[in-house]
Amino acid sequence: MLGPHPFSLFVNPRLGTPGVVVLPAAGFRRAKAEITSWAGYAPTPLRDLPEIAHAAGIGVLRLKDEASRFGLGSFKALGGAYAVANLLASELARRGVAAAATSTELAAGLHLEATHAITVTCATDGNHGRSVAWGAQRFHARCVIFVHQAVSPGRIDAIAQYGAEVRRVPGTYDDAVREAARQAKANGWFVVSDTSYPGYTEVPRDVMQGYRLMADEAADQWRGEPPTHVFMQGGVGGAAAAVSVQLRARFTPAPALVVVEPDRAACLLASAELGEPTAVPGDLDTIMAGLACGEPSLLAWQELDRATTAFMAVPDEAAIACMKLLAAHGIVAGESGVAGLAGCLLAVADQAACATLALGSRSRVLLFSTEGATDPALYDLLVHSR
Ligand SMILES: Cc1ncc(COP(=O)(O)O)c(C=O)c1O
Repeated sequence: MLGPHPFSLFVNPRLGTPGVVVLPAAGFRRAKAEITSWAGYAPTPLRDLPEIAHAAGIGVLRLKDEASRFGLGSFKALGGAYAVANLLASELARRGVAAAATSTELAAGLHLEATHAITVTCATDGNHGRSVAWGAQRFHARCVIFVHQAVSPGRIDAIAQYGAEVRRVPGTYDDAVREAARQAKANGWFVVSDTSYPGYTEVPRDVMQGYRLMADEAADQWRGEPPTHVFMQGGVGGAAAAVSVQLRARFTPAPALVVVEPDRAACLLASAELGEPTAVPGDLDTIMAGLACGEPSLLAWQELDRATTAFMAVPDEAAIACMKLLAAHGIVAGESGVAGLAGCLLAVADQAACATLALGSRSRVLLFSTEGATDPALYDLLVHSR
């Protein structure tokens, strides 16, 4: 249905090997209780796509549509903002201000003087920074966000509207990550990163616990026989790992997980091929800005390494075709939100991939459209391009 596009598919030889518990169940219970208590919380819709399923030759195709999440336009609203609340609560406890402040208390401004003295920061390609900025505003902290060169003015404005100071950094997303860490150290700020590395795992773990709610809702909303496959897009891998953990917790057997990345930023696929987390070189020049990451998140990798059935890399053209396809079905999905659909439709059109992934007319596929038109001007340009 998408037309021919080149793609890579790598079957994970380590699927099913034992590993550490990356996201403990108690942490998710806390995240769920907090986030579902926030003003404006509502589950996002799980949409049935029978026409696309029929045309693709698969049994069921359902898409969790995150465009309306907390008015921020992406699933990232669940992660960064939750991590900000948790970070503020632990910092208030450490400073002897409040032993266990809840996000409701923080939002109500119960500890204003103390929270105003705390600055949170992160690097972002758009959506994570928007969530952190929104969380900082909601819970009354100061916020400085670092963006790399390729982040569009539309995305920068979307962050700045929540009162954050936005600073541009030369280079890629990974350069912005390093600059945020450097400035935080120099100024006593707190990094709320969506990616983890040795020695920095607690905050990104909270971010991922927040993301799990998206998959948890999808499991609640799913009707009939459980999904057989999930195609999930990957940047640093945190979202895919959170989906993996939650679907493993909710479905037995768990659906086969296929992680899909842009072919110009496929660090998870490269890591799977090498058998250990590795960075990919280059300028990561893809329109899928949220997925333009060159280094996997350590925590995410620990889950994906053993729970992913296969890794795929797809070109930008396939993502644009998917945005148009969904638009024709009345669904607004941004360029980083459709990579999973692109992977699915490219795989079903390829006999060898179908055989490898056991994909066919009886398959029930779950997808996550992780963003809507988070950059409306770019969305219009791509959807109306020839
Ligand atoms: C819309 C969207 N989808 C998916 C992702 C991928 O998430 P992760 O970097 O945790 O793999 C991102 C990351 O920014 C995103 O913005």
